Amino acid sequence: MLSGIQPTSDSFHLGNYLGALREWVSLQETHETFYMVVDLHAITVEHDPKMLLERTRRSAAQLLALGVDPERSALFVQSQVPEHAQLSWVLECQTGFGEAGRMTQFKDKAAKQGTDRASVGLFTYPVLQAADILLYQANAVPVGEDQRQHLELSRNLAQRFNHRFGKTLTVPEPHIVKDTAKIFDLQEPTSKMSKSASSTNGLIELLDDPKRSAKKIRSAVTDTGREVVFDRENKAGVANLLTIYSALTERTVAELETAYEGRGYGDLKKDLAEVLVEFVTPFQDQVRSYLDDVAELDKLLTCGADRAREVAVPTLAAVYERIGF
Ligand code: ADP
Ligand code: NA
Repeated sequence: MLSGIQPTSDSFHLGNYLGALREWVSLQETHETFYMVVDLHAITVEHDPKMLLERTRRSAAQLLALGVDPERSALFVQSQVPEHAQLSWVLECQTGFGEAGRMTQFKDKAAKQGTDRASVGLFTYPVLQAADILLYQANAVPVGEDQRQHLELSRNLAQRFNHRFGKTLTVPEPHIVKDTAKIFDLQEPTSKMSKSASSTNGLIELLDDPKRSAKKIRSAVTDTGREVVFDRENKAGVANLLTIYSALTERTVAELETAYEGRGYGDLKKDLAEVLVEFVTPFQDQVRSYLDDVAELDKLLTCGADRAREVAVPTLAAVYERIGF
């Protein structure tokens, strides 16, 4: 099982955690897991080098604090495993130009930047993503809806390579994550919570001041009713709060509905604000302690990269041999 996250923000947000990273932690129980901070992907758009290094370390520290266990998972930084870029080149040469051009995420992102300014790296990003996966002969990749097309490309490239050069690469299956929640913006509960939202009032960043986050929860948009029931259509704000509450406490939404019967939204928000503070406070302490000893953190990541390379190096060697290198 393999997954990655970009070091493109100072803090992960609640959507990242409840929608993806929480699953990373639980997958360690059942799978051999490879988790990486994908800094190669982070340079497909303009970036600040100092900030990238800082965010790479912060991302790793947050993953550790959330429960990624370096004993059980290979936790590493993508650029420290050069085989990613090497396999990516081989796969780029198996990818049709038109095929790459049909990736909707590229089209969206390029449209935002203007096609002339978008880098070639942004264009070939899905192929690097295929290399990320195929390098580890991953059987399964946790994917959200937005990544389905990219996983399909990875599958096609693996099959194509095997067909052209002989069976070498494992064709990955999507691991549909049942247990993850889609989290919405607290102020605009029909848009997903995102670091790129126009306003940060609806965004809960895990490393933000807990007091400010609590306040954001207490001022979350609800509706004019008062009944605490889960109704995504008519009560998007309340439904979102219930989703978050349930995910952070392991109480079911139904249990919460019963618990808040006859009480207003104010109680729900006040209690959820407390739940959130109780979650982020020890998390932040742990992140701080990892970042206080950067040398140790870097060492841990180097060990993770060594472990990743135990799988990556033989895969690349097999690929090179197949193509006549
Ligand atoms: P953002 O949308 O803030 O830019 P990313 O695209 O970097 O976040 O997403 C990183 C991971 O977090 C992905 O696996 C993505 O599916 C997940 N994720 C991001 N936002 C949410 C959300 N609001 N709800 C659930 N999962 C999310
Ligand atoms: Na995004």
